[in-house]
Amino acid sequence: MRKVSLQDIYEHPITQKYVRRSGMAHAISVAYHAFHLAKEYEVNPDWAAKAGFLHDIGHYEWYTGGEWDYDQYREYDIHPIKGAERAHKLLIRLGEDKLAAKEISHAILFHTESALPKGNVELNAMQKVVHLADEKDKQPGDEHHYRNIDQEKERFLVKRLDEKIEQALAREIEPK
Ligand SMILES: [Fe+2]
Repeated sequence: MRKVSLQDIYEHPITQKYVRRSGMAHAISVAYHAFHLAKEYEVNPDWAAKAGFLHDIGHYEWYTGGEWDYDQYREYDIHPIKGAERAHKLLIRLGEDKLAAKEISHAILFHTESALPKGNVELNAMQKVVHLADEKDKQPGDEHHYRNIDQEKERFLVKRLDEKIEQALAREIEPK
């Protein structure tokens, strides 16, 4: 039995504030991709989906005069680090298993190259899954951060993914 559901995470004000900032539709879609990839990479589908959902929770708003400032973002952004810490704090506060919280937090820290030293860095399977899931949802011009769906649909999709995770954990069926 999971201690924390995606619905618990979704409803929390911290998630609503920070995940919405970087795109709720993107977060949900990366959670789905991570869930599907979890089977192939033999990682826990619950942890993968949660890490996918929370991977961009560390984003800061780099606005200059109402426009997103990519130069500032590239130069100063530390969203993987902020996200790893923020997600960990949120998960622990919600009562998440400590090992799950750690693995999810590490996957967020390593989801993008920006927090990694140059050269060959070996990611574990969970970290690869979250990185690949994010890549799958990327759109030209960073449009994925601005895509919107209504909140009723968001709730429906989050609840449905919770059900898929429960089924995958309970019966070890192929995630669909
Ligand atoms: Fe992302």
